[in-house]
Amino acid sequence: MTHLDWGLSGKTVIVTGATGAIGRAVAQGFAEAGATLAIVDLDQGQCNTTALSLGLAHRGYGADLRQIAQLPALVARIESDLGLATTLVNIAGVILRTPDLFTVTEQDWDAQHDINLKALFFLTQAFAKRLADSGVPGSVINYSSQGALSGGFGGSVVYNATKGAITTMTRGMARSWAPLGIRVNAVAPGLVDTPMLKTPGQTAAERDAMIQQIPMKRFGLPDDHVGATVFLASDMAGYMTGAMINVSGGFLMY
Ligand SMILES: NC(=O)c1ccc[n+]([C@@H]2O[C@H](COP(=O)([O-])OP(=O)(O)OC[C@H]3O[C@@H](n4cnc5c(N)ncnc54)[C@H](O)[C@@H]3O)[C@@H](O)[C@H]2O)c1
Repeated sequence: MTHLDWGLSGKTVIVTGATGAIGRAVAQGFAEAGATLAIVDLDQGQCNTTALSLGLAHRGYGADLRQIAQLPALVARIESDLGLATTLVNIAGVILRTPDLFTVTEQDWDAQHDINLKALFFLTQAFAKRLADSGVPGSVINYSSQGALSGGFGGSVVYNATKGAITTMTRGMARSWAPLGIRVNAVAPGLVDTPMLKTPGQTAAERDAMIQQIPMKRFGLPDDHVGATVFLASDMAGYMTGAMINVSGGFLMY
């Protein structure tokens, strides 16, 4: 290996949430590093469009990742189409904001935990099992959030609890699978200018107040997350596992 070899050329990479704002940018970054992408998201048509926009080698997989029983078959289908995947990037997620903590319903709780945490765990389990059975090393990158450490506020607390659990689970998976050569790391975005950040009726003054809390005085952009994510999957991060990279313009420092 040279010091600046990504080591991703010809590798199969699964990106979930890959037709979303950050997922689409990250998938493009992996394609530019020479990887073959499995574009996974809810809508088959959008997955196909995204895959095609990256080049003919890539494939789209429309799947609701909350269908836990289907996840091993999804991993098997990707392997049959594109070869054994050696990187999994878990980006799919949702936030449901409520006015405050008192108005959180059980449905709100389940809707966020089912995709952000439960689906992430079981997809990663299915992915890592194939690596373990094949004796091939690989890597997982989980999308957490700055809120994993801050805890968030009011109606976003449940979402941030899922992100805190993702950070904790990243460490436990990293420790468990290090002997198998499977590295597990996390990326923690700060405040990213995507639809997820917007709330109904949000004013320009409220957006500006958020920007003022960011030392770099701008929201993150989807493209800001590409470097950290591709790096963590690459051979250049070969001695990193259980880490979380903060990509937040200094919003949260740790
Ligand atoms: N935008 C931010 O400010 C911010 C901050 C911190 C962390 N994050 C995290 O970054 C990730 C990407 O965020 P984004 O802003 O690009 O959001 P986004 O809404 O643009 O993308 C999320 C994607 O996940 C997909 N998804 C949702 N439920 C799914 C399911 N059941 N099965 C398959 N796919 C499903 C959606 O269709 C969507 O394409 C998320 O995990 C989010 O929690 C975002």
